[in-house]
Amino acid sequence: MDNNSRRYALVTGASRGLGKDIARELARRGIPTILVGTNERVRAVCDEIVTTWHVRSECYITDLTKRENVLKMAEAINCQFEVFMLINNAGVGGTHGFEDASVEYIENIIDLNVRCTALLTHQMLPNLKRQPKSYILNVGSMAAHTPTGFKTVYPASKSFVLFFSLGLREELKGTPVSVSVASPGAMATNAEVTERILKQGFLGKFTLKSTEAIARKCVRQTLRRKRHIIINPLSCFLSSVVPNAWKTPILSRIVRREIGE
Ligand SMILES: NC(=O)c1ccc[n+]([C@@H]2O[C@H](COP(=O)([O-])OP(=O)(O)OC[C@H]3O[C@@H](n4cnc5c(N)ncnc54)[C@H](OP(=O)(O)O)[C@@H]3O)[C@@H](O)[C@H]2O)c1
Repeated sequence: MDNNSRRYALVTGASRGLGKDIARELARRGIPTILVGTNERVRAVCDEIVTTWHVRSECYITDLTKRENVLKMAEAINCQFEVFMLINNAGVGGTHGFEDASVEYIENIIDLNVRCTALLTHQMLPNLKRQPKSYILNVGSMAAHTPTGFKTVYPASKSFVLFFSLGLREELKGTPVSVSVASPGAMATNAEVTERILKQGFLGKFTLKSTEAIARKCVRQTLRRKRHIIINPLSCFLSSVVPNAWKTPILSRIVRREIGE
């Protein structure tokens, strides 16, 4: 990708964690970006990219849990930019007994991980389809592969991301758009997540990888039009051979430790 390209990559959740490292990896490759976050922090990432890599980077600040914001943002971007890559990375999780969880906690996960992913993709497709070659990367999770108590809504939301991505990839065969889905395991992206992972003991530490390495792999394999981007091949293999009837109770017990129940 040359530095003067006018085609942009749109990255949600780019202010920190994996999204920020994906934005940096794209900049390293000379790809202009539109970065989305909920506050001014995302502007600092754009500024860093412009000063460090001399690549164009625009920011868009909005709350993507709101349906109208997703539609408004997509419309604004479609009017101004040619987008050849959409990275649906913004996502939230958490560990909670389902009965004790607030309505806001449940809605936040579903609205961001499920509704925003589907609606933003839907709204950006005409733009992506008019590019000679284009890419969608949906960031799922290893959690998508095992129903897990005390997370419950999060793995369900990520299994939506997985099935949505694989179904859409099939639908878009023969078009310029390739759809990839990534299944990262644990990433120590923020203090809360790091604490949760460490509480999981061996299992958490076993799958832990740096966000820089994951971002590099995600971008490289998305550009190679890979269907499913597996970050931890061994845990993915184990997950595929062990039946849910065994995995679900074991993982749920481990996760339960996080909330001290
Ligand atoms: N961390 C892990 O262990 C792990 C494991 C597997 C999969 N994943 C998945 O990987 C992706 C990235 O995770 P991460 O841990 O890197 O995330 P993170 O560090 O918690 O950052 C979340 C990002 O999403 C943005 N965001 C949150 N709520 C938003 C909203 N309502 N509207 C718009 N943007 C919003 C945040 O923006 P602000 O900073 O502006 O709030 C931030 O940029 C997620 O989809 C996550 O589910 C994470």
